[in-house]
Amino acid sequence: MEEKKVIFSGTQPSGDLTLGNYLGALKNWVLLQDEYECYYCIVDLHAITLPQEPKDLRRRTLEVLALYLAAGLDPEKVTIFIQSHVSAHSQLSWVLNCMAYMGELNRMTQFKEKSKKNAGNVNAGLFTYPVLMVADILLYQTDLVPVGQDQKQHLELSRDMAERFNNRYSPTFKIPEPFIPKVGAKIMSLQDPLSKMSKSDKNENGYILLKDDPDTIRRKIKRAVTDSFNKVRFSDEQLGIKNLITIYSKLSGEEIDVIEKRYENKGYGEFKKDLSEVVVEGLRPVREKFEDLMRNKDYLEKIYSMGAKKAEKKAFKTLNKVYKKTGFIPRSYR
Ligand code: TYM
Repeated sequence: MEEKKVIFSGTQPSGDLTLGNYLGALKNWVLLQDEYECYYCIVDLHAITLPQEPKDLRRRTLEVLALYLAAGLDPEKVTIFIQSHVSAHSQLSWVLNCMAYMGELNRMTQFKEKSKKNAGNVNAGLFTYPVLMVADILLYQTDLVPVGQDQKQHLELSRDMAERFNNRYSPTFKIPEPFIPKVGAKIMSLQDPLSKMSKSDKNENGYILLKDDPDTIRRKIKRAVTDSFNKVRFSDEQLGIKNLITIYSKLSGEEIDVIEKRYENKGYGEFKKDLSEVVVEGLRPVREKFEDLMRNKDYLEKIYSMGAKKAEKKAFKTLNKVYKKTGFIPRSYR
């Protein structure tokens, strides 16, 4: 039998997950789980590049795990684990840090944005964060990384660094490919269609959380910024409406032109009302399952402990090779 290709992806437990995380990443992960050998990680080591309240970080780590399951990931098919449970991530990250150039990390747009936003705390971890992400991906000999558009540059770094290591020593890492959806790779803020929908947005009307109740979802969509054309068109002149049509299409599974046609002679009020129901109904099963799972911490513990064992096996196989090639003497257990 042909070996399955490997997928790796992750989410930071640094805030509540948004509709952007769901449509840009999580929903695709579920579609890929039958065909590939998948590793889906909750990247808590990444989260501390910005200050975190310890008890909130613990709660959110479990919440992200519950959302993975609620969105439809099947723990019998995929490996779900917590990054800090597999120490190989930090270990490979160190080796790769010693091969990463300051110049290439300085070019990372996410670093530039985050350091501007957190000018009082530009720590070294924030700067080398992309290298930890490279380590995550390369440890699993990953073929494909399903992510939203905002992670593309980090993926390019992963490819460059894998090639650099392979050339300096000998073939060790697979060269990973990004897997970015054609529609929905960048869901925009409902309040500012020029910036990405983000869990760290200060204006809560900008995002829809997977945890939001139906009335909150309806209220946020009602307030979403549009324009004065009053035409439901998928056009770059109408970025607010374009974003709402994208959300509609991703959640209903309907093509964009079908949606445009349906609302051809209708105003934004009616479109937004219908969209609200599409979002409420689309997220309802996820939210209900999420609430159920959060009441069952024993089950969640079982999943992450099983996941860490599976992930560790694969990760250490790669790390041992890397250590050997680097020139570290293998530990003796005599
Ligand atoms: P994070 O936690 O910011 O986001 C998780 C996933 O959601 C996608 N995403 C979006 N997609 C569409 N529209 C949006 N508005 C939107 N917001 C977020 C992200 O692209 C991502 O796929 N560095 C990563 C986490 C990470 C990782 C990895 C990912 C760490 N190691 C290895 C892949 C492979 C991050 O901060 O994602």
